[in-house]
Amino acid sequence: MSIEDVDTSKRRFLTIAATSVVGAVGVGFAAVPFISYWQPSAKVHAAGAPVEVDIGKLEYGQRIIVEWRGKPVWIVKRSKETLSELAGLKGALRDPNSEVEQQPKYAKNEHRSIKPEYLVVVGICTHLGCSPTYFPKNDPHPMGTDWKGGFFCPCHGSSFDLAGRVYQGVPAPTNLVVPPYTYLSDTRVLVGVDPKA
Ligand code: FES
Repeated sequence: MSIEDVDTSKRRFLTIAATSVVGAVGVGFAAVPFISYWQPSAKVHAAGAPVEVDIGKLEYGQRIIVEWRGKPVWIVKRSKETLSELAGLKGALRDPNSEVEQQPKYAKNEHRSIKPEYLVVVGICTHLGCSPTYFPKNDPHPMGTDWKGGFFCPCHGSSFDLAGRVYQGVPAPTNLVVPPYTYLSDTRVLVGVDPKA
């Protein structure tokens, strides 16, 4: 597995390998285009082991992708501007207040996350299971001039905002799923485990 930085100038899209809690995780940038990892066994993956992610080097607008229980989980760092724009999208969304249980209780809030700055969401469309494409606000995108950034599913045209909330008038019925997760520190997230009560 490897880190891939496919566009450092605009999209700054990061893909990183999955690891279990006993493996180290990092984020790759242009200066470190390729890093090898310790890889957990298939058995560890099959058991759905939690995935520890280092978010310390994530910049605003960047996304990390990790694999948890065979699914992509996205972590996106959101700026204050992005967070304020989320509030203004409510009228365009099907479930702006996350009434449908697509998230743990601790993520049922306006930003759908534990810390407003970081979105953690399962990257699978709630229509028929494609993985949507990330279109940050300032990247070229086909969603019109009002696009504030988010995710577009090319399979049947569903779109989601940067809190994973589904827009109205698209086939996807619900918001993207927020997985259980917790913070081990300010820079380390553990996907697959709820915060301690
Ligand atoms: S699978 Fe995403 S819109 Fe159909």
